[in-house]
Amino acid sequence: MLTRPPLAAGLPLLGSALALRADPLGFLLEQYLDLGPIFRVGALHRRFTVLAGPAANRFAAREGDRIMSGARDWATFAREVEAEHFLAGVDGPLHSQLRKIIKKPYSRRTAQAQLPTLVETTRRAVSARPAGRVVVVREFMQRLVAEQIGQITLGSGPGEVFDDFVVFMRNLLNAVLGQQPLFTLRFPAYRRSHRRVMDLARRLVAEHQADKDPDREPDLVDYFLAAIEENPGLISEGDLLIGVVGPYLAGIDTAAGTLSFMLYALLRDPALLARLRDEVDQTFAAGPLSAARLRDMPVLYATAIETLRMYPVAPMVPRHATCDFAFAGHRVEEGEALMLATGVAHFDPEIYAEPHRFDIERCMHPRNEHRQPGAFAPYGFGAHTCAGAGMAEVQIMVTMAALLHFADIRLAESDYRLHTTYNPSPMPDDAFRVGFSLRRAEA
Ligand code: HEM
Repeated sequence: MLTRPPLAAGLPLLGSALALRADPLGFLLEQYLDLGPIFRVGALHRRFTVLAGPAANRFAAREGDRIMSGARDWATFAREVEAEHFLAGVDGPLHSQLRKIIKKPYSRRTAQAQLPTLVETTRRAVSARPAGRVVVVREFMQRLVAEQIGQITLGSGPGEVFDDFVVFMRNLLNAVLGQQPLFTLRFPAYRRSHRRVMDLARRLVAEHQADKDPDREPDLVDYFLAAIEENPGLISEGDLLIGVVGPYLAGIDTAAGTLSFMLYALLRDPALLARLRDEVDQTFAAGPLSAARLRDMPVLYATAIETLRMYPVAPMVPRHATCDFAFAGHRVEEGEALMLATGVAHFDPEIYAEPHRFDIERCMHPRNEHRQPGAFAPYGFGAHTCAGAGMAEVQIMVTMAALLHFADIRLAESDYRLHTTYNPSPMPDDAFRVGFSLRRAEA
């Protein structure tokens, strides 16, 4: 017989709220191990049903597009940016049409065509730091990733608007996810950053419209402008502006967070660091980086995959039920708020041996633990699976390879132990700082 899913046991609402804010993934993992793959959480004004673990991932991958939607969850975001059709909040054929527009400029292939850009931006970021100067890893990675994403998808980086992206994105996402009250979106600092981000989007559109060079390789803005010409009713001005700066919003914290965690894991394991650096140096010695050479870097690949497993930067995605359905013997009603805790499976001890240990061998032949069904979902699944996953993977691998090739990197405080903050994306705290010393000035 189907019953209502149980409420998270033993924790009062305030306890849940505090635990969710301090360590959402850790909290949901604990509930999963205690209660199973479906449970309900109440945290002050928020109530939602959580689907977690490998069986939930398999179920959502199979059925999610039919019985769940993110439309209601992204409505605040869409309203705030005056978008009529915000990608994450639309479903069905309209969503497919919108995904088609960004498919090429967001693709793995586009990133592969820009490998020299990824290497050079990294080399410059390292060389620009005077020897002995210490940097906050989070900020270093965010600036580098933003520059790369801008150059690859839009033809130029964010320049002085970088800080505004961070303020805009952090406040808006926190408000959308219920981590801060909506009225904070009326605060002057947020409004100023919002305006400057949209001004940048307008400027990019105007520059692309004025640039008639037929030999220029089309980028994301050109693809949007072509789609508007083809189907004028499909994209409003708000859709266009948020679409143009979309790569910054979706990519900065995610790729920068992953690179920061990856660097931490490497600095904590000198043997792994040396093994990876050998592979990297050999690859650079063989000639310029290419897609084929990148595919032939098993240690780099496994380190990136193990980072995405152990430090998932988007470990849960909000949805609501669009119809009544049953999962694991429990009934969910139409309209219920859901949280797909995709990252919980990454720590299931039945899937991963010693899941809290960073161990790249588990992502290599013959173990391949992450290949088990439902075991690994850093990019989500279904129709809304991350549109930038291929690009992100190339960016993360090349940037880390270039960092290790060009610089020796040491912890500023040798006894630093990771402390993750959620704002809302997980990120090492600002006490994670490193110093660089140049190993070589050229590739
Ligand atoms: C390590 C890096 C990244 C991770 C872990 C990540 C993860 C995710 C996740 C979990 C989702 C939500 C999936 C869902 O709702 O089911 C998502 C959506 C999305 N991501 Fe990423 N992402 C990363 C980097 C990027 C980058 C670099 C870009 C673009 C340049 C990007 C663009 C997008 C877009 C456009 C969506 C919305 C897709 C849709 O709703 O159809 N992501 N990402």
